[in-house]
Amino acid sequence: MLRRKFLTGLGISVGASLLASKQLLAETQLPVYKSNTIAPADWTALRDLFPLTKKYIQLSTFLLTSHPKPVSDAIEMHRRGLDENPADYWHHRFETIDNDIAETAAEYMGGKAKNIALTDSTTMGLALIYSGLKLAPGTEILQTVHDHYSTDMSLAYRARRTGAKVRRIALYENPSTVSIADVIKLLREGINKNTRVVAATWVHSSTGVKLPIRAMANAINLINQDRSKDQQILFCVDGVHGFGIENENIAALGCDFFVAGTHKWLFGPRGTGVIWGNDRAWANTEPVIPSFSASYDVWLGNSVQEQVPMGEHMSPGGFHSFEHRWALPEAFKLHMQLGKANVQQRIHQLNTQTKEGLAKMRHVTLYTPQSSALSSGLVCFDVAGMNAGNVVKTLHSKGIIMSSTPYRNSYARFAPSLINNEQEIEKALSEIRALA
Ligand SMILES: Cc1ncc(COP(=O)(O)O)c(C=O)c1O
Repeated sequence: MLRRKFLTGLGISVGASLLASKQLLAETQLPVYKSNTIAPADWTALRDLFPLTKKYIQLSTFLLTSHPKPVSDAIEMHRRGLDENPADYWHHRFETIDNDIAETAAEYMGGKAKNIALTDSTTMGLALIYSGLKLAPGTEILQTVHDHYSTDMSLAYRARRTGAKVRRIALYENPSTVSIADVIKLLREGINKNTRVVAATWVHSSTGVKLPIRAMANAINLINQDRSKDQQILFCVDGVHGFGIENENIAALGCDFFVAGTHKWLFGPRGTGVIWGNDRAWANTEPVIPSFSASYDVWLGNSVQEQVPMGEHMSPGGFHSFEHRWALPEAFKLHMQLGKANVQQRIHQLNTQTKEGLAKMRHVTLYTPQSSALSSGLVCFDVAGMNAGNVVKTLHSKGIIMSSTPYRNSYARFAPSLINNEQEIEKALSEIRALA
């Protein structure tokens, strides 16, 4: 309804536009897209959905995914529609599609569609929330020394622009021996009376440590219980690693904001991401980029802001690479068809195989904890006498694509994922063994 008014406000007769776009679809015989179905836990069939070269063992697809067939088919369908008649195709799709995307995202993530904003990446999501959070003078944001560049710089820019105070704490010294008790103790000690935001990263992309988000949220909630409403702490998480692996209901994880790109472990279209926020978190945040959602209709004077779902209001507007954004539901559906519990079990199984193999090598220092409760997806290590770049280069020459971590202390990094199998992991391990 709101979108119809928005389109009318843009000077377009919705009825005519829809009719035209339906005719357009009929005339051009666009492929009617049907989601491919895949059996739960069918990893061999899943691998065949990717056009990834078989010349290499791919242990770094988490950086930026290859598009699996259901996603690339949907992109192709939307691309053709847009290329053949951009205005009509956009009007036709724009009527419903953002809401459909948020609905499918909510089915996968948990929570409500209205609480989900659509972005282009984790970085965009982090920058939006850390720019938009309302902070009273004298209050502070507490972050960790285990955050990625995108959190660090979003907070640094916020501090530079507004004078907001940002402080950093370590939640552990040695990643391989991290414990939940230590993390909670250091978090509690780090929070002071001025802390209003805690910023953290679910899975650290330089060590593979998975922070105990639920336990951290519980500790923050206990502190919040003794505070007035205006002094409560918001807990914001960069969840990009972990998302697409862990079988979690994000809305029940305990954090207030959860930000993730969907173009890594989830296999979504490159250039897509989500922010989930609970009502309290969104209520404490100002939009930064005007959305092209029903909020446009408010600007036109046809409706009021309260009628617009918060997630839509917070989704940055302007025209996008819509063919990618509109194909995102296919990635969520694919993961749901595989089964969230199966996905988690499979990635942890391959992680365990990797870590057990590396732990037996005397020339290797493993930084990632052995426990699945404290790690997820990424396995990070050093080889004695070699820097990370050389390890990656040598393995590449043997047909194995890994990566080095883009941090000041850089390590070599394996990311066994759903497209890998036990034999590939064994082959990669044997090449690392040969580096002794
Ligand atoms: C922990 C972490 N956060 C954020 C990012 C950036 O993600 P995006 O490319 O979706 O912005 C990365 C890696 O690229 C990362 O490792």
